[in-house]
Amino acid sequence: MNRKVTVVGGAGNVGATVARAIAEKELADVVVIDIADQKAAGIALDIYETCPIIGSDSRVIGGADWSAAAGSDIVVITSGKPRKPGMSRDDLVRDNFDIMKSIAPKLVEHCPNAIVVPVANPLDAMSQALFRLTGFPRERIIGMAGVLDSARMSTFIAMELKVSVENVHSFVLGGHGDTMVPLPRYSTVAGIPITELLSKEAIDAISVRTANGGAEITKLVGTSAWYAPGQAAAEMCEAILKDKKKILPCSVFLQGEYGIQDLFVGVPVKLGARGVEEIIQITLTADEDAALKKSAAAVKELVDVIGV
Ligand code: LAC
Repeated sequence: MNRKVTVVGGAGNVGATVARAIAEKELADVVVIDIADQKAAGIALDIYETCPIIGSDSRVIGGADWSAAAGSDIVVITSGKPRKPGMSRDDLVRDNFDIMKSIAPKLVEHCPNAIVVPVANPLDAMSQALFRLTGFPRERIIGMAGVLDSARMSTFIAMELKVSVENVHSFVLGGHGDTMVPLPRYSTVAGIPITELLSKEAIDAISVRTANGGAEITKLVGTSAWYAPGQAAAEMCEAILKDKKKILPCSVFLQGEYGIQDLFVGVPVKLGARGVEEIIQITLTADEDAALKKSAAAVKELVDVIGV
């Protein structure tokens, strides 16, 4: 295996899920880094020991020492406080910004050429923080949110229509927060827009449940979700490592696209070996555009709080 993915915060639930998904698919060697060094070593070893069973030659190591991360193709940042029931993602902004400030210098020192996939919340603001703190080009900072939000929407559409999730393709734009923008017109089942298949009431209910998808899990489990977020980050890694040119919704630094300036917001992008290879611009209706701008304004409020 000559590719390497480092998962920072890898002793946490989301990080361990990313590490496991990458090893399971034999996408790369995996380095699990966490300030909880023994736990990181143990989780890495446990995942490594799954590899003979699943037939993967990924090598998985863990600890607190960043030198193992040197030469990583991708660094996934899952460090950060998770949500407690009743908390919004935005309640975490100051605490998790402090954590990003401790990580950024290590990223620059050990992994100056890596593509960075931030996962910590509030996602768009933490992506912007890492972008500013590392000085990496915008093509190499790609926040994970839209893949997760779209997966949630697809789950709810498949449940409602009783069809295979493989037939469902969902589209969610905007910030990873309560103002995210599910786009029913571009969400399809076997190529058919869901606006042809479901009532407005059913679609509205799916959109609301999607936007509240993280809170729904947090309420049930007592902490943030990890299986779907981890799998979503791994899908982004796969697209990059295999240079798939896959179009996925990701949080990226917009510089005029969609009429949004200097802000991380979720939009469809083409992911390949260079990271973000293209930002796909689609035509929005006036209502959709207004919803996206509202979502961007919510992200802007947060980045202003931490001054990035
Ligand atoms: C969620 C958290 C990870 O949406 O933001 O579940």
